[in-house]
Amino acid sequence: MKWLEMDEWIDICCWILISMVTVYLLKRTCSGIYFLEEGRLDDKVIVVTGANSGIGYETALELTRRGASVILACRDRQRGLKAESSIKKATNSSAVRFRQLDLGSFKSIRTFAKTIKLEEKNLYALINNAGVFWCDFSTTQDGFELNFGVNYLGHFLLTMLLLPLLNNCQYGGRVVTVSSIMHIFGQLDLNQLSVKKHNYNFVKAYSDSKLASVLFTKELTKRLKLPRVTTYCADPGIVSTNIGRESKLMGSYFYRVLLIPLRWLFFKSAFSGSQTVIYCVCSSSPLKYSGACFSECEHRSAWPSAVDECTSSELWRESVKLTNLSDNEMKCCN
Ligand SMILES: NC(=O)c1ccc[n+]([C@@H]2O[C@H](COP(=O)([O-])OP(=O)(O)OC[C@H]3O[C@@H](n4cnc5c(N)ncnc54)[C@H](OP(=O)(O)O)[C@@H]3O)[C@@H](O)[C@H]2O)c1
Repeated sequence: MKWLEMDEWIDICCWILISMVTVYLLKRTCSGIYFLEEGRLDDKVIVVTGANSGIGYETALELTRRGASVILACRDRQRGLKAESSIKKATNSSAVRFRQLDLGSFKSIRTFAKTIKLEEKNLYALINNAGVFWCDFSTTQDGFELNFGVNYLGHFLLTMLLLPLLNNCQYGGRVVTVSSIMHIFGQLDLNQLSVKKHNYNFVKAYSDSKLASVLFTKELTKRLKLPRVTTYCADPGIVSTNIGRESKLMGSYFYRVLLIPLRWLFFKSAFSGSQTVIYCVCSSSPLKYSGACFSECEHRSAWPSAVDECTSSELWRESVKLTNLSDNEMKCCN
């Protein structure tokens, strides 16, 4: 076997170095922007839905680190308690607690809101994070298609029920809804908001639910009679989490083995994905943009379909009907 010449060794080392720098720069770029502002949240009570995994878990962890009292609103008791104990351990704080919330059930949402109203006098923030993606057709307990029911309608009802508590907060309450760039593919059919099995397409169902959330954020700001409450949409980017784990592809051997390096390189970690959400909760900069979308810790102009006032107003009216909100529960809004 021929031993390599010095020049060839130098070439190999250069290529290794260039590859490492390229991988580092790619990884750094794909990781997005970090929210570096200091800022304590002592005595501020925050609800995070879907806080037992992914972006929700990292958000709850960071908010607890900053001194907030965080309510982990999760559907599964075991997973919720596990997240509670792991956040307590990591932060040395006891100000974090699990409360059961299934966004696919109006009954569960109402019970949760009632519990929080009994336990708390005010809320500093509600983070509408929980979500499903890439799932087969199924429905919520109230009969709505899952993406529409959990990602949008459940959060709509939860927000409306918690608005009075958010308005009681002397610092001003914030509603932060985790959106997605996929909302740009959404096309809401107001005559059939919750699609049926025969015309189900998982990408469309998800995109529509995220478009509905963006429209809701805008419409809520317009209709709110509560001067202290502001609302935002936070797009986390493309994040390596468990979302979509029910799909055949993500559960497959191919995905797990071959795509993991690509996920590592091109996707954000859940911590990176939580940064814009944390920014919308902690920073004073978003305050002048109530109703707007944010990504990479910056205000973004909305996609044309997400500023259609006729659609947002009609969606609002339909959502009030579908969730059976009473006049008394709607008195915070026009
Ligand atoms: N990952 C991305 O690339 C990406 C990109 C854009 C936007 N987002 C959005 O980010 C949010 C968080 O997703 P993630 O990526 O962090 O995924 P994840 O790790 O799967 O987290 C989703 C959370 O939602 C909870 N959830 C699902 N259905 C629920 C229900 N019916 N009631 C209450 N909680 C429910 C899940 O609980 P279980 O553990 O019990 O299932 C889990 O805690 C979602 O709104 C998603 O649409 C994600």
